[in-house]
Amino acid sequence: MLSYRFREGVHVDSGENAVVITTPYATRLNSIRQSLKIEDPSDWLKILLHDLSARGVNRAQVFSNNDPLSAVAVHQELLDKLETFYARGLLFVEISGLKGAAICLDPVKPPLQRKTVPVGDYRIKLSKFVRVQPRVDGLQITTPLATAMVLLKDQRLFPILVQLVSACDQTSFQEALPVDLLEHDEDVVSLLLSSGVAGVCDGDGVVDIDKDAVDAGWTPEDLAFHCHTREQMIDVCRDPSPPKPVDKQQFPAKHQRIILSTAALPEPSHNHHNLSFFQVVRERKTIRAYHEQPVNAGILSDFLWYSMHIRQEIICDPGLSRAYSGLLRPVASAGALHSIELYLCINRCIGLQPGFYHYDSSNHSLGKLSDLGEPCLQMMDLAAASTCRAPQATSVSPGQGQRPDVLVVMAARYGRNASLHQPTGLSYALILKDVGSIYQQLYLVATALGLAPCGLSFGSSELFEQASGLSGRLECSVGEFMIGNPASTHGFESGSAVVV
Ligand SMILES: Cc1cc2nc3c(=O)[nH]c(=O)nc-3n(C[C@H](O)[C@H](O)[C@H](O)COP(=O)(O)O)c2cc1C
Repeated sequence: MLSYRFREGVHVDSGENAVVITTPYATRLNSIRQSLKIEDPSDWLKILLHDLSARGVNRAQVFSNNDPLSAVAVHQELLDKLETFYARGLLFVEISGLKGAAICLDPVKPPLQRKTVPVGDYRIKLSKFVRVQPRVDGLQITTPLATAMVLLKDQRLFPILVQLVSACDQTSFQEALPVDLLEHDEDVVSLLLSSGVAGVCDGDGVVDIDKDAVDAGWTPEDLAFHCHTREQMIDVCRDPSPPKPVDKQQFPAKHQRIILSTAALPEPSHNHHNLSFFQVVRERKTIRAYHEQPVNAGILSDFLWYSMHIRQEIICDPGLSRAYSGLLRPVASAGALHSIELYLCINRCIGLQPGFYHYDSSNHSLGKLSDLGEPCLQMMDLAAASTCRAPQATSVSPGQGQRPDVLVVMAARYGRNASLHQPTGLSYALILKDVGSIYQQLYLVATALGLAPCGLSFGSSELFEQASGLSGRLECSVGEFMIGNPASTHGFESGSAVVV
């Protein structure tokens, strides 16, 4: 038997002249649930809506049109409405056998496209991006691309998962079904295809719904992260236990670290940088080869000041219950949260001891955390090793990876970001965007100062954790950047701004 009922979170409000169906869906920016208004509903439609809200509707009843009182037009109206509800992701579909509910389709967002069994010979297979999670009532099957999830409730259906790992034709699919569900084989296939967790295979065994993602080389992890953080429509009724809110006081805007000692930085200079903004933009490039003469504390001070110092602490969204403290810095940050801290592995810098430092962006000073220990040396070696990955031959350092004078490590305070963004689920995505913003800031400031800048792709959270002595759940490294004095082949005066 195949039946329909409204999914969790659908609410029907019947008025005198209209019915309003509140959906479980809202947009990320507007949390008011979307609704559907039906003017002047017929009595038949009201009965259908009532049944869909209560015990559910057996498809055979709606499709049979046995009731002599119901005109053909009425019957068609009900079928049309049912299709509308299905497409809007409002209907929970259940196929049952002798042991009760066997397989269900539970929509996660609209639109849902009903797919029927293909004509002729066909082979179906699970999407490569499928995720199977055990639940108390069965196995839940989802993919980031699917607009519905499938629930396998009857354990006798679990073997079809194994079957569907490889391309499966109609006969072998039927063989995997319990006898009492055989009469529903086409419904089960249609349910799997409509949900988007399975698709029809091409000659190479690629599922139709996966084709674009497979051709573009998407990994399941990236696709899940992308879909989760970029979806417009969200389901506001599903999660029964929202996570514990993050205590804002625990993650204040200004971040102080326990340090061994403070190294004062020279006052930032305000008058000797001669490049105009547009010249800086034109000159910006990656330089991976360094001069024997290292950078000095003055230029490092300017580099940090013009990139990351705290200009002001502000209250964001004042007057709202979610008001929080934010920061203004030369670099932009989503929501003014500035959850990224700079740590420096200082290898060589005139005027500063080698060591591992935290940049105190409020006091514009460096807090020493340790000498350059093994984890820091390994971070610098990793940086040097990834230097040779430059795509432009002329830009590759001939030494294939010199240790930089200073390796800047960007570390995210996840909790600070989550104190605002846990409900939207965007914390990590926004952290990565902030990192991109900082990379560009560091590139431009370094160029203006005549330094050799190089952003890096590879970094190790484990090494940072060892160097910083902090749990990676509190602060995790999310980006690395090298600076030094450019080798003279790059035409810069070492450690000073280019004068044009
Ligand atoms: C996010 C990011 C990651 C990068 N990763 C590396 C890297 O691992 N190794 C490297 O040598 N250069 C790296 N670079 C520098 C790029 O290779 C460089 O920007 C690119 O080749 C273009 O050259 P240009 O910066 O001189 O315009 C990175 C740049 C960015 C923005």
